[in-house]
Amino acid sequence: MTCEIAVLRGDGIGPEVIESALSVLGACVPVHVHEGLVGGAAIDATGDPLPPDTLELCKRSSAVLLGAVGGPRWEGAAVRAEDGLLRLRQGLGLFANLRPARFMGLPTPLREGIARQADIMIVRELSGGVYFGEPRGITPTEAFNTWRQTAAEVERAAHVAFRLARGRRFKVTSVDKANVLETSRLWRQVVSAVAKGYPDVTLEHRYVDAASFELIAAPQRFDVVLSENLFGDILSDEAGLVAGSLGLLPSASLGPGPALYEPVHGSAPTLAGRGVANPTGAILSVAMMLEYTLERPDLARAVEAAVAVALRDVRTPDIGGKARTSELTAAVLRNLSWPRWSDADCDEGASEWAV
Ligand code: NAD
Ligand code: IPM
Ligand code: MN
Repeated sequence: MTCEIAVLRGDGIGPEVIESALSVLGACVPVHVHEGLVGGAAIDATGDPLPPDTLELCKRSSAVLLGAVGGPRWEGAAVRAEDGLLRLRQGLGLFANLRPARFMGLPTPLREGIARQADIMIVRELSGGVYFGEPRGITPTEAFNTWRQTAAEVERAAHVAFRLARGRRFKVTSVDKANVLETSRLWRQVVSAVAKGYPDVTLEHRYVDAASFELIAAPQRFDVVLSENLFGDILSDEAGLVAGSLGLLPSASLGPGPALYEPVHGSAPTLAGRGVANPTGAILSVAMMLEYTLERPDLARAVEAAVAVALRDVRTPDIGGKARTSELTAAVLRNLSWPRWSDADCDEGASEWAV
């Protein structure tokens, strides 16, 4: 069965890293690719960062692969490029954003002995919090946002975190700011209640300020990190230090229908068009697609292994090398040894994660 994949390259280095990711995906499974516009590219073409056609395309696809949105060109504009991505997440009902970060044998500013043992899965609640709360507004003298969190939002993200912990090291660290925020107090209550259904998983609570310190000082102590939308955004960039570069981190956003796969990084405007962006985050996002949508963990492991071997001696500038995007991509493809795709099965989406 051939899978229908919506591909939204977006802005900046988005198109470049997606090119790499598609060559790896195409080498693993037969896919039909359908391109759509998002972000600044969509604003330029249509005035809308998420044209209706794009959302429709994504909804009828098996999965969505996205590069990055935004850049200086669209900053301060009446419509923001980033809104395209936020509206896409809302439109697909995506509520859990999985952002794994592990030591990859690369130079990192962290103490290597500690980083070496680090293998973290950040589960970021993606549908609530201050990102989407209403009312919000800005005048020349005042601006305001609303931080709202429902128990249902916390509950479904927490179930994803606990289920993932069962396939890992049976530990969830829930991150909040319950010493200050009501939203965090509710968060803590709901996570603690969900934990009762997973007696085999250890739950600990951390305030976000302490957690962000520990992520650097002792990353090896974390397994699954569960956090709300804004804290998860910040902590996942920080986790780039564990791997060695932001350009290495992939993500998967799960909901009741098609899942969205995108690198954690943004459009990196200063690198755009130069052919030197690290494509690893995008390529590993394809590995996550193989695992969660296409249900081919064997192929996901093959891609991860090929990336690990390639990175031994082919490195882009962000990880201390001189290689170009195309050279690292070619090295990954050279090192791919698959169980091949003969019986790749195409799922309708990630609905098994809905609770
Ligand atoms: P960024 O992630 O684009 O870049 C942060 C730093 O990491 C920069 O030094 C950049 O050069 C480096 N970097 C990022 N990806 C890299 C890669 N693949 N290879 C090598 N180096 C890489 O964040 P920013 O500069 O704060 O944001 C730039 C634009 O991207 C903004 O418009 C922002 O809103 C947008 N953004 C989009 C997404 C997304 O689409 N998911 C995520 C984050 C930021
Ligand atoms: C990310 C990005 C987005 C976010 C922006 C571009 C809306 O930073 O995916 O990490 O804040 O979620
Ligand atoms: Mn971010």
